[in-house]
Amino acid sequence: MKPKVFLTRRLPDGAMRVLEEKFDLTCNPHDRVLTRQELLEGVRGMDGILPLLTDRIDAELLEAAGPQLKIVANYAVGYNNIDLAACTARGVAATNTPGVLTDTTADLAMALLLAVARRLIPAEAFARAGRYQGWAPLLFVGSDVHHKTLGIMGFGRIGFAMAQRATGFQMRILYHDSKPADPERERMVGATFVDKQTLLAESDFVSLHVPLTPETRHLIGEAELKAMKPTAYLINTSRGEVVDEKALVRALKAGEIAGAGLDVFENEPEIEPELKEMENVVLLPHIASASIETRTKMGLVAADNLIARLIEGRMPPNCLNPEVFS
Ligand code: DGY
Repeated sequence: MKPKVFLTRRLPDGAMRVLEEKFDLTCNPHDRVLTRQELLEGVRGMDGILPLLTDRIDAELLEAAGPQLKIVANYAVGYNNIDLAACTARGVAATNTPGVLTDTTADLAMALLLAVARRLIPAEAFARAGRYQGWAPLLFVGSDVHHKTLGIMGFGRIGFAMAQRATGFQMRILYHDSKPADPERERMVGATFVDKQTLLAESDFVSLHVPLTPETRHLIGEAELKAMKPTAYLINTSRGEVVDEKALVRALKAGEIAGAGLDVFENEPEIEPELKEMENVVLLPHIASASIETRTKMGLVAADNLIARLIEGRMPPNCLNPEVFS
């Protein structure tokens, strides 16, 4: 008998094929996020759950699944939607999908940076609306990106990949993290470790690449925004809660920073209404990893984690709570 797996939203075909072949798969039949009630009912009796970052996995849900549940294989690298301690307490392995989305996410962070600095979105809308009357010296002038200073908060896989992209623009790269990186890693991209204050004060672009934890919640708030240059831009492809969104609105209105490129929001899918009115803000619906190649790979990594735990009976490759196996 194949192990039973509950998938909370259909994935790309390449991943669906593997999941359907290996497991007795039940998939959310709707093209929408499941309600809490649907989720609680869907997981009942399952051996594994493959949730998205929009699904809260907590003690109540693990209880609803039942004692046979062995693994929660998150379809994301971030796992702030999972109560890891609750999983560990029940002997349930939790996994994520690191590595496969690094470059795709960094590509989008750089795209956001370019879009907001060079005013691509309003300029495109202007051209599309038939308003272009001819070249003009001040038409959609923005800010240069090349040779400017990029401040990277969080120098893990994605932060480093962002730095790699910035080297192509000959940017000066500063970074801040809980500790300095390996000197070889710094040398590869010419990045300099600085304290948070220096990063905020000297950067023309501040790009966020930290995981969401209690320590990083509102890492960027009123004081940090005030510490940035009035000509600087904030780029966020990490998690919305890393930025105090109301403070960001105030800072943008007060001209304390020049603009923002946001792929994530504090109360997704809600977005502060005032942000939607601002021309110096680029808003995207959490699509940093959204290439078909990467979204397929994420599904295959999640499938590998499920296969390891449910079919091969071993610790999955991306286990977040290895203590379950000790
Ligand atoms: C993640 O993986 O954490 C992203 O936010 C979605 O790809």
